[in-house]
Order: sequence, then structure tokens, then C-alpha cells
Amino acid sequence: MCGIVGFVGNKKAAPVLLGGLERLEYRGYDSAGITVINNNKFETNKTVKRISALKEATENGEAICGKIGIGHTRWATHGAPCEKNAHPHLGFKGRFMVVHNGIIENYLELKNELEAEGVAFASDTDTEVIAHILEKHYTGDVFAAISKTVSRLEGSFALGILCVEQPEILYAVRNFSPLIIGLGEGENFIASDVTALVSHTKKVLYMEDKEIAVIKENSVDLFTASGIKIHRSPALVNWSVDAAEKGGYSHFMMKEIKEQPEVIAKTFEPRIKDDKVFFEGLKLTEEKLQSINRIIITACGSAYHTGVVAKYVFEELLRLPVEVDLASEFRYRNPIVDENTLVIIISQSGETADTLAALKEAKARGAHILSIVNVVGSSIAKASDDVIYTWAGPEIAVATTKAYSAQLIVLYLFGIYAAEKRSSADSKLLKTLLDEIRLLPQKISSVFEMEDTIKSLAENHYKMKNTFFIGRNIDYAAAMEGSLKLKEISYLNSEAYAAGELKHGTISLIEQGKIVIALSAYEGLQDKMMSNIKEVKARDAFVIATAIKGNTAIEKEADEVLYLPETHPLLLASVEVVPLQMFAYYVALFNGCDIDKPRNLAKSVTVE
Ligand code: G6P
Repeated sequence: MCGIVGFVGNKKAAPVLLGGLERLEYRGYDSAGITVINNNKFETNKTVKRISALKEATENGEAICGKIGIGHTRWATHGAPCEKNAHPHLGFKGRFMVVHNGIIENYLELKNELEAEGVAFASDTDTEVIAHILEKHYTGDVFAAISKTVSRLEGSFALGILCVEQPEILYAVRNFSPLIIGLGEGENFIASDVTALVSHTKKVLYMEDKEIAVIKENSVDLFTASGIKIHRSPALVNWSVDAAEKGGYSHFMMKEIKEQPEVIAKTFEPRIKDDKVFFEGLKLTEEKLQSINRIIITACGSAYHTGVVAKYVFEELLRLPVEVDLASEFRYRNPIVDENTLVIIISQSGETADTLAALKEAKARGAHILSIVNVVGSSIAKASDDVIYTWAGPEIAVATTKAYSAQLIVLYLFGIYAAEKRSSADSKLLKTLLDEIRLLPQKISSVFEMEDTIKSLAENHYKMKNTFFIGRNIDYAAAMEGSLKLKEISYLNSEAYAAGELKHGTISLIEQGKIVIALSAYEGLQDKMMSNIKEVKARDAFVIATAIKGNTAIEKEADEVLYLPETHPLLLASVEVVPLQMFAYYVALFNGCDIDKPRNLAKSVTVE
């Protein structure tokens, strides 16, 4: 989704803006632009190509003078991806320049008002109304114009604003869309997320909704929209610059796949002490946990898939009814939620619009909200009663891998923690699970040894047209994620089915040449999976199966078997997803796809 950067300091702004935009590329975009103020004039450069095109055209930004500027990567919502719709957008008097992330819900009403007053629009965007409304309300005081504009806008917006008459001030506004301020020495920044800033500073100020920031080379002042000064201490980001770079890999996705052992260790190690799970600062008291009579997990995309895994784990350990729902569905039904419901929200970015809306819906109905989030200070983290961070570091590839794995770990830990407090599971089982979790980094690393096998499987089958992932129980949950990985980065059609459901329709699609990925590592149901594999083999499908190392029975039925290290069945998804991630990666690679930035997709989906 759209990304914002802004800079004011004592050096050229354009190279900083372009570098920042490059780091935000992963969010997904289809056009980009920067504006700097140079000699009291705006100088704007836009592209419908990649940021690299802007860099090439401007000698990495060095050809543009001016020490203050704003930049933007646009993911089209209102109007096609083209140069006129790319940000920044200029107000009708040529005084204000604006970059925007979010959606102005009342933009048509504002546009009609402005057009009736004779304002001509140069783009199809909702953003342009902001620049014009600023002009309309400007009577010599920029802050007052911004404050008035904010009061007229409905919807979500993070804004970077320049006024050509104040070439030393960068203004920023946040309302339901992420925006942070980076504090440097004699220079300050704004950005949609910390990845754009970590190479410059690790000191950040998280903005809250409806706040306006007045940012100069040597000062940053935060105000409420009505002009009351706010005092807030900066936070320190512990993400390293390396984490936001490829470090020798061709793609962030493979780097992030390979980071998983280390990432999950970072997620669980500090939370396990003396064979018990601890979560610092959790407000969910033991008493509250006892009173919970159901759990609802809601999320989008891969985060939803970790919720599907958690349903199996929680039902086993907590003996509570667990419902998993897509946030985009949950928010538009009439869910049965009350103060005895624990609602678990899962989100890597912490900004997914549907997930945030589902959270608000559940909160309004009295549920305790526990969120599992990667990005510190994100909207979902802020709106929750409790947050457990995944500590996966920045995830740059659009297709999530390490954040998915870290979410699973937090879910396992929470299941164990709650089971202990509620005395709902055998303490030996909880201890076994903790021991097994500690072994997961090593087990995931051993899966990497299969990389060559997986690569050649991908090479042999990358032209496949339709792929079916089937499984039962946790194998089914892993199938959902494996299928999504394949389709999002290779653009090949693939579907995940509960293996028992196949014969209720989908088996009619099985014919010679179809690839079936049969996840059969959940040993309790392997016999059933064997029958399903036979059914698709009888229809000439090519079957790639998974199984636990040492269990060779599956070889009789499947064409290829990927052997996984043994772990507790409840933790199976953590090892099983890894070969599926690598398979998707190599299929996409052989198909020549843009692995880290798949077409039409965004990392952080901040619109409905
Ligand atoms: C997008 C991403 C997915 C992610 C989903 C939910 O579709 O491409 O990788 O799973 O959003 O995002 P969240 O940040 O809420 O986990």
C-alpha cells in the first residue's frame, strides 16, 4: 500500500527521499513521486515505473537541490496508476503540496464543493481534494489551514505536507493510517514505517490519530488538531539496517525463509523460563482467563492461516470452543461476542484495515482483545487490550514467511500459558510442547537441507496449471498457507482442500498432469490421507507428499515424498510450511516472477 517519506535537514533531500521510497517498495506500489522545495519553488518528479527509474533520471537524487521534501509510493485506489494520479499533489494556488496514505471517504462531497467554487482537478485521486482544501482554508497561518482541513476530512489519512511559503517546515498528520517521525541530528524525517528510517536514525516518535507534527531541521513539535502541544518521549527501534537488506540473497523472500530458525528463537526464548511461559505486561489476568468461555481468532491472509492452526492447538489444550474468521467477514456479520469472549487478532503489519475494523467491532461488544503483531506501535497494537509482539524484525517480501512462523510460535506459547492457568491440559504435555518448541529452530534448519530436492521438483513442474494442496487437521491448515504462497508469487492457480472434502466436487478436476500436494505428516490421520492419495493417483495426478522422516509407507502411493523432521503433531505446521515456502519460491523463480513484489499485491493492506 502507499508509502510516505519526508525529510528536512541540512543536506539534499532527494537522495534521502528516493532511498526511503526504495525501502518502502515492498509495501507494493504502481507509481511514485517526490517533491522538494528548491529556491522557494516546488520541484516534482514522478514515475509510473520503479523507484530505480526516478533514481536514474535524477542521478540518485543528486541532480535535485533543496533540503526539504516529501515522497510517495502509490498503490492505486481512486484513479488508474498514471503520472497525473501519482503523488505529490499540488493545491490550486500552487502553495501546498501533499502526499497521502489512506482513503478520504467524503472526497466526492469535497470535490463537488470545490468544483462548484471553480477549482479544476488535475487528477482522479481523493488526495487532490486535500491539497485544494488546504488552499481554501489558508489565510496566512499554515497550521490553522491544516487544522481546519483535518476537521473536514473523513476516513483514514497519513499526510506529509509542504507549503512553499514556509520552505523550512515539513508538516505531518496522522489519522488511522501509519506515520512515524524519525529524529536525527540536525535532520528529521517522516515515514510510513521504520524500514525507511533505520539507515538514518533509530529514534522515533509514534504519532497518534488526529495529531499534527511541525518538523524543522532542529526541532519536532507535536500538537493536537486544535493546537495543544503534546509531549511524548521518543522510542528506540531495535531493528538493524541489515534486517532491511538482502544480505547476499537474490530475494528478500529466501532471506526471510532462512531467517526463520533465528527469528522463532528470538520469539520464544525470552518468554520461556523454568519450563513456564511468561508474557510481560499482559493485562489478561488469571481470573479473566478463567472466565473466558470462547475464543474468536480473526485476521487476514496468512495471519488467518496461523489462526486456523491455533484452532487445533487451542481446542486441544484449552478445551474451549475456538472460532476462526476472516476479518473481512467477521466485521460484517453480527458476531456473538461478549465480555467472556477472548478475541485474538493476528497481524504482521498491525495496519490491515479489515483486521483493525474487526478488532473495533469485537471491542465494542465487550471482548478482551489480545493482538499478536509484528510492527511495534502499529494501529492494531495501540487499539488492543493486550499485545504480544512476534519480534520477527522487518519483513520485506510481500509473501510472508518469517512473520507467519513467529505468529505460530506466539500462538503455541499463548495456548500453553492459558492451559497452565486454566489447568486444562496435562502438565507433562505442556512441558513436552515447550521442549519441542525449543527444538524447532534446529528442525527448521534441517528442512533447508532439502532445498536442492525442492528446487528440482519446482524445475520439473513450474509450468503446472492447477495445483491442489490437500491435508487433514494441521496438515490442512499448512495446506492453506502452502497454496496461498504458491499463487501469490507464481500467479499459478492453486487451491487448498480438506482432503476429505475433495470427493465432494473438486475431484472432478483431477486428471492426468494435475499436481496434488498431499500433506500427510499428521500421523494420526495418515491412513485417511493414503486413501485420498490413492483416489487422486487413480485419476493420474502427480502426487508430492509430505511425511515424517522414517515413515516410508507413503512412498508406495506418492510420486515424491518430502520428509520432515519429527515434532509434536500440534507443532507440525512450523516444519511443514517451510518446504512449501521454498517450493513456491522456486516455482516463481523458474517462471520469472517478481518474487518479492508480486503484481497487484501489497504488504500492508490499509484499505478495505
Ligand atoms: C497482505 C499480505 C499477506 C498478509 C495479509 C495480512 O495480503 O500480502 O502476506 O498475510 O496482508 O496482513 P497482516 O499485516 O495483517 O498480517
